[in-house]
Amino acid sequence: METRAGSIAVKVIDPPAGARELADEICERVARGPSFVLGLATGKTPVGLYGELAARRAAGVSFAGVTTFNLDELAGLGADDPRAFRCWTAELVHGPLGIPPQRAHSPDAPADPASAAAAAADYERRLAEAGGVDLQVLGLGRNGHIGFNEPGTPTDARTHLARLADATRRDAVATFGALADVPTHAVTMGLGTILEARAIRLLAFGAAKREAVARLLADEPDPTLPASVLRGHPDVRIWIDAEAAAGLHR
Ligand code: GLP
Repeated sequence: METRAGSIAVKVIDPPAGARELADEICERVARGPSFVLGLATGKTPVGLYGELAARRAAGVSFAGVTTFNLDELAGLGADDPRAFRCWTAELVHGPLGIPPQRAHSPDAPADPASAAAAAADYERRLAEAGGVDLQVLGLGRNGHIGFNEPGTPTDARTHLARLADATRRDAVATFGALADVPTHAVTMGLGTILEARAIRLLAFGAAKREAVARLLADEPDPTLPASVLRGHPDVRIWIDAEAAAGLHR
């Protein structure tokens, strides 16, 4: 059953069914026009969605005309570092869906601030040239971040070099082995950039997301929670599982 929290449509659903519903919508939109622009999130949460889209391709859906923009990239990793998000999306999205590399955009993320600012400006230019994002897929950080917009990010921020919160870096230790090896910064679409997507679809599964989900859907907006900016967007749907929903309506 779908409920509403302000302008946000909310559905409590098990993760595979949520992935199928969002894949249905993406496939419908891809079928409507060849110039569809899809915004991609990384992380564990959207893996099921991307697997579902790959299954649709195997069943005959063509994604060859789709353009994608990754939300963010960890700063200072080498071009072929398998831990870079662009490698992750190449493996889980672009390869399986047959999206050509020239339409698979991700921000460059050099570690030094001046080069990162230039890379961020270039990413905004590419986004504008593509006509903006039609549908942005989002996950949710346990501290309520979207992309790498950590608590305290201005709501009108454009693509920028962001400092990662300690909690966010700790969540990445599993990938990097030791906290000292986790990048300290990332280039991310800003909250203002994300809000320009014409449709936003967020997935949040598991108990680790319970508090952020409860704060996102509370009666009063929480300005310390970056995802709260979504309450001001006219076309947001979120899918949460029972674990993530357990903090609601207490
Ligand atoms: C990272 C990404 C976010 C993602 C979040 C949650 O911080 N920058 O885009 O939503 O992690 O990750 P997971 O889905 O693995 O919980």
